[in-house]
Amino acid sequence: MLRLRRPENLFRYRGFTATNRYPRIFGFIQQQLAAQPDVRLLSFGGSTGAEVFTLRDYFPTAFIKGIDINPRSIATCEHLIRFADFERQVTDFARCLKDGGFCVIRHTKFRFADTHVAAGFEPVLQVVRKPPDKTTPLFDRNNCRLMDAVYSDVVFRKCLGSYG
Ligand SMILES: C[S@@+](CC[C@H](N)C(=O)[O-])C[C@H]1O[C@@H](n2cnc3c(N)ncnc32)[C@H](O)[C@@H]1O
Repeated sequence: MLRLRRPENLFRYRGFTATNRYPRIFGFIQQQLAAQPDVRLLSFGGSTGAEVFTLRDYFPTAFIKGIDINPRSIATCEHLIRFADFERQVTDFARCLKDGGFCVIRHTKFRFADTHVAAGFEPVLQVVRKPPDKTTPLFDRNNCRLMDAVYSDVVFRKCLGSYG
């Protein structure tokens, strides 16, 4: 759409991005700002957000804002970090599952344990990745990044009479 509309202020319309795309540049800025207390960063043209998440790794306490002219990219990004959607989805799974049934949840950005519905499940299998999987950052109920968090519960069994 943007390619066709070509708004005046459009720079690059292609939205390609990737996690840690410019390690040398990020590392350089990290060094330069090491002694600075209130770091504020802008990812201008951040596409679907990989750059913002990468910057969070380099600057755990900084204020980071990402903007993009493409509403589709923004929508994708927002979708990536909404706990409410995750909770709604797994609650629906739980509703459909019979007592004693298994639910397998892997590579999500949120922890099943943080949902209300998890109280009706017991974790029955953990998968520990070594080294820890850095490609799937974890977020809490408030969509805030959990730095260095590792979550290994993967298979859950629905407790008898726990739901509905
Ligand atoms: C190639 S992507 C770069 C993504 C990321 N910064 C990276 O390097 O991985 C360029 C992005 O800039 C956005 N863009 C282009 N013009 C813009 C403008 N005037 N304001 C905000 N974003 C813009 C595009 O929508 C696109 O997502």
